Order: sequence, then structure tokens, then C-alpha cells
Amino acid sequence: MNIHIISVVPELLESPFAHSIMKRAADKGLLQVTVHHLRKWAINEYGTIDDYAFGGGAGMVMMCEPLVKAIEELSAAAPFDEIIFFTPDGKRFDQPTANELSLKENMLFICGHYKGIDQRVRDHFITREISIGDYVLSGGELAAAVVVDAVGRLIPGVLNDETSALFDSFQDNLLAPPVYTRPEVFRDWKVPDVLLSGDHKRIEEWRYEQALKRTQEKRPDLLEGE
Ligand code: ADE
Repeated sequence: MNIHIISVVPELLESPFAHSIMKRAADKGLLQVTVHHLRKWAINEYGTIDDYAFGGGAGMVMMCEPLVKAIEELSAAAPFDEIIFFTPDGKRFDQPTANELSLKENMLFICGHYKGIDQRVRDHFITREISIGDYVLSGGELAAAVVVDAVGRLIPGVLNDETSALFDSFQDNLLAPPVYTRPEVFRDWKVPDVLLSGDHKRIEEWRYEQALKRTQEKRPDLLEGE
């Protein structure tokens, strides 16, 4: 999978893909993330990429020209399956969306800043608008990093044990059950007996019950409409 990201603060995206599972995905050639500085397509030698909003009001708006030039130049190399804009008024990101995006080959992510991007870019180029939650970030970079991580780990071969993504929280609308590791007793807190029983059928049943209980307690909304 190839993901291109257009940003005005590319430094924000240097670390998230350079470690752990995202690094492994890159090393294995399964995920390539390329970050482009929007200033490369600035309208003048001063690096201008934004301007005042028509109609007034505080805050700058990212201009059409740099964004459209960037989109067209990058699309010419390889057409994008999706051009995604990160914005608090986008559709709330969730696991089904991550699953869907994990099937794409080539995507372009656009990170907004300031007051946002000229609406005409949204109207004519953007295929999907994503929000990572009902709060306002300073820019789309952290949202893009969240989506790359959630999608990247679903690419077959990225996780060592592929089944582990299948049992993630949310994959079946249930939160994940509690987990324990050694020692069996810490202070006087003991690991549930069933997990030490070696009886895999009972363990699976216990995990399902715990997942259901946890979901009922913490996120009953996930169980609605089932
Ligand atoms: N840009 C600013 N806030 C955002 C959010 N909540 N989700 C996605 N992109 C954003």
C-alpha cells in the first residue's frame, strides 16, 4: 500500500511511522508512507499557500492552487483510490472504515491547517472526509497518523500473528477481554483460574463472556441494533 500525505508541517509526521509496527510494515515493503510539503507547490517564491477568507473573519484558508497542483502532479504518477481530507466535520473514523481503507492500494491524505482548505478543493477532488473525534486539532497531521496506524496494521503480513488483528476490540463490535501475564499472583491479586486451566474451549468462552460484559459496562452503544 502507498500512502502519500500532503502537509504544511511535515515534521509532525517524522516519528509516527519510524518505529514499531509501522516501521516493520515499511521494512517489509507492505506500506510506504511519503510525506510531501505543500510549500513545494506554493504560488510564489515566498512560499505562499494560504490567504484571507472571502467575506472576512479570523484565520487563513489554504488556497486552491497549491493543493490542486499537488494533487494533479501526484495523481499523474499513479491514480489514487482515495483522496482523503482530515477535518473535524468529516465522518467519524471507526474500525469498519479502517477495514475498508486497508483494501486500497494508493491513497492521498490531505492535512488541513488554519481555517481549513478552499471549499472548491473539497468539492472537486476529495473522495472522503474523515474526523478522528469530536474535538478540534491544530491540523490534520495527528489525525492522518492515527488513520495510517489503524489501517497499516490491518494489511496482511504486517502483524506477526495475523489473527491478532481479527480479535482486536471493535472487529466484532465487542471490546477486547482482559489480559494477564506472569506472575500468576502479584501481591495477592491472582490471575483468573480459567486462564491457567489449559482448556481452550473454556478459555474462549470466558473471553467472549468478559468481552460482552466489558462492552455492556463501558460501551453499550456498540451492542445496540444487534
Ligand atoms: N483536523 C482538526 N481537527 C480534526 C479532527 N478532529 N479530526 C480530523 N482532522 C482534524
